[in-house]
Amino acid sequence: MTTDAFAGRLFGAATASLELATVYLGDRLGLYRALAEGGPLTAAELAAATGTHERYVQEWARAQAVCGIVEADDGHYRLPPEHAEGLVDRESPAYLAPLAAMNATGALVMRELLDAFRHGGGVGYERYGAEFRDAQQDLSRPLYRHGVGAWIAALPDVHDRLSAGGRAIDVGCGAGLAAVELARHYPAAAVEGADLDEASIDLARANARAAGVDVRFHVRDASDSGLGGPYDLITLFDSLHHLARPGETLRALRAQLAADGIVLIAERRAEGPFERFVHLVSVVHCLPTAMAEQPSAAMGGVVAPETVLALAAEAGFPEAAIAPIEHEMLRFFALH
Ligand SMILES: C[S@@+](CC[C@H](N)C(=O)[O-])C[C@H]1O[C@@H](n2cnc3c(N)ncnc32)[C@H](O)[C@@H]1O
Repeated sequence: MTTDAFAGRLFGAATASLELATVYLGDRLGLYRALAEGGPLTAAELAAATGTHERYVQEWARAQAVCGIVEADDGHYRLPPEHAEGLVDRESPAYLAPLAAMNATGALVMRELLDAFRHGGGVGYERYGAEFRDAQQDLSRPLYRHGVGAWIAALPDVHDRLSAGGRAIDVGCGAGLAAVELARHYPAAAVEGADLDEASIDLARANARAAGVDVRFHVRDASDSGLGGPYDLITLFDSLHHLARPGETLRALRAQLAADGIVLIAERRAEGPFERFVHLVSVVHCLPTAMAEQPSAAMGGVVAPETVLALAAEAGFPEAAIAPIEHEMLRFFALH
């Protein structure tokens, strides 16, 4: 790449980052929602509908139109339905607006991250704040809503056991949405969730209540020997690489398994369209959060399949393999 081309690439990245900052504003201030529900609107009408300052909204709407996020026609702004789905439809797999909030929380931790780079240590998950936690659950909602049922159905033994009233726990459950979906799909099963982060467990309990399902959530370290097995299914969705002690944790979880139970792990595929994203998130979030506890295995978010299989073997699982579950963004591992 020439110097000019590289400068152009950097400029493009800066522009995209600014665009994401305006998506954050539109999301948080309800501007997209007001346009989706009541548009087309003038800037003045949009400001009135959202209780925001007209001059700022004018500037925002003009920039959104230039970026092609909204359409402008004779002073009126309209959000095309295809864009509204990604910006305001919380159930849609296309709903990626929370990435803007996640990105914005980077500013909160940047000084700590600089410090961690210079001196070691990490940046605790809780340091990314409530907005990060909310964004994590908003991104997880459509993923698990549309995924969990099909993923478990692809494992006939587990499906049969849970259908007949087995026990399952989601470890590193965050806001509990995967556990809620497990309970929804398997009403006869006893479902639990565990996470170290107390505020996430508060969200998880509220999510279970809102969904009308009975899930027991615990503030617990994933390697806690008092977790309460034996379980027919233990899941770790997007959480193995966050653990400071993944090997020790897998060993402890093995002791919590029922005879013929399985541990199902999902990790992100750092390849194809996700390669850059997974590598970049690892620098600013996955690695620093895992290094907040010391000593740490410091896996980072880019996890090779061989690494998971080696950890499983070291933890004493006689059988570990990539599970027959197709997903463009996640790779699944079944440990027996
Ligand atoms: C990327 S989040 C994923 C949350 C959830 N599984 C989801 O997909 O929405 C990783 C989670 O792992 C949790 N975690 C990290 N270390 C943990 C530990 N030692 N024990 C339990 N949970 C842990 C964090 O608190 C965080 O909620």
